[in-house]
Amino acid sequence: MSLTYPDPSLLKELAGEYGTPLMVYDEDAIRQTMRAYTENFRSDIFETAVLYASKAFLCTAIAGIAMEEGLHFDAVSGGEIYCLAKAGASAERIHFHGNNKTPGEIEDFFRLGHGHIIVDNEDELKLVRSIANSLKQPMDILIRLNPGVEAHTHEYIATATKDSKFGISIDKTDAIISMVNIIEACPYLTFAGFHSHIGSQILESEAFAMEIRVMFEFIGMMHDRHGIDVRDLDLGGGFAIRYTHEDNPPSTESVCRRIISLCEEEVTRRNLPLKRLMIEPGRSIVGDSGYTLYTAGCRKSTDSREYVFIDGGMADNIRPALYEAEYTCRNITRNDEAPDRTYTLAGKCCESGDILIKEARLPETFPGDLLLVHATGAYGYSMASNYNRLGRPPVVFINGSSHRLVLRRETYEDMMNLDVE
Ligand code: LLP
Repeated sequence: MSLTYPDPSLLKELAGEYGTPLMVYDEDAIRQTMRAYTENFRSDIFETAVLYASKAFLCTAIAGIAMEEGLHFDAVSGGEIYCLAKAGASAERIHFHGNNKTPGEIEDFFRLGHGHIIVDNEDELKLVRSIANSLKQPMDILIRLNPGVEAHTHEYIATATKDSKFGISIDKTDAIISMVNIIEACPYLTFAGFHSHIGSQILESEAFAMEIRVMFEFIGMMHDRHGIDVRDLDLGGGFAIRYTHEDNPPSTESVCRRIISLCEEEVTRRNLPLKRLMIEPGRSIVGDSGYTLYTAGCRKSTDSREYVFIDGGMADNIRPALYEAEYTCRNITRNDEAPDRTYTLAGKCCESGDILIKEARLPETFPGDLLLVHATGAYGYSMASNYNRLGRPPVVFINGSSHRLVLRRETYEDMMNLDVE
């Protein structure tokens, strides 16, 4: 199965109008993915909610689309919450995560309204409690647990991450019960339930099955032995997408249905009063519906490789340098020519590691050709930097044959705006 991409003539038109590097998102495809989640992540025995993990890519346009499609949000900072609020999201729709929320961020969130805070540790819970008491404002609280299951791509390992910076280890029963008691003793806080997240770009749904087994074993024990009822369970994100032709992630429909049926089975078998199940997809909502267009510049050959340099690189996509992430690209200018050459696609940053694709299969490529990199929609723009004072690229949403600019190009002046002298 080949990777899909928007109409090349539209891409050429957009590159002409906005210049490159340019990020392009297919809005219809994003909406379809969101619907695949909301339609398949449903149960007859408990409520469900799909939270868009806004760290994957956030601007008011994507937040607006997620709201129209009935999604809620996972946010991890005051900045993300600010953007979501600007887009019109109410606190009720926002789940505030993070392992070290500042007092200012927590206060601002309380002022926004009655939402959900996922507390990461006991110190943070005490901070949340003192803010709730002083503002006299309500908040629902989930406790982030570390189930000791970690999954990345094809591998998942049980009990390997006890020293993770996130969450309370699930075997610290006494500490968890004491946190529930702190929440229940505070008149403004409501204990809603537990949260866990086991990794990202998880290609095997068996890893989620293991997370579910571990979480329900714990929830069952809390219910039977300690009389603690869990209203909400949030299983986090991590659903994989296709970056290359070799990646073969399960469909959204099949992962959602498997999670729902495993959870229904646990709830029924253990006779639990679970009211709501949540998941937090980020990458899989926007990742493969986003693309980056670059213009090929100079070329260079060494004894072992042929380089094509592009007009962006690690400043707009740090994932290859940071994680050795792999991408697929195509030459839009020579779209009907066979990709019979292997090039190293390197960026323009002053860093030897600024290599976007080590072995890109392309037709013979010339300066000025338009290159499209697939599946850059998640954690590309959101992790972009101004390294070498490169401005962030503009972002265009396409909708059939029409399009709209949702984020303009960051200019030199934008970058100078922070200088106070
Ligand atoms: N929920 C929690 C608590 C998370 O920590 C994350 C991602 C998600 C949901 C969304 O996960 P997703 O569905 O997007 O896999 N920068 C890395 C990914 C970091 C993911 C961090 N947490 C990358 O570019 O691959």
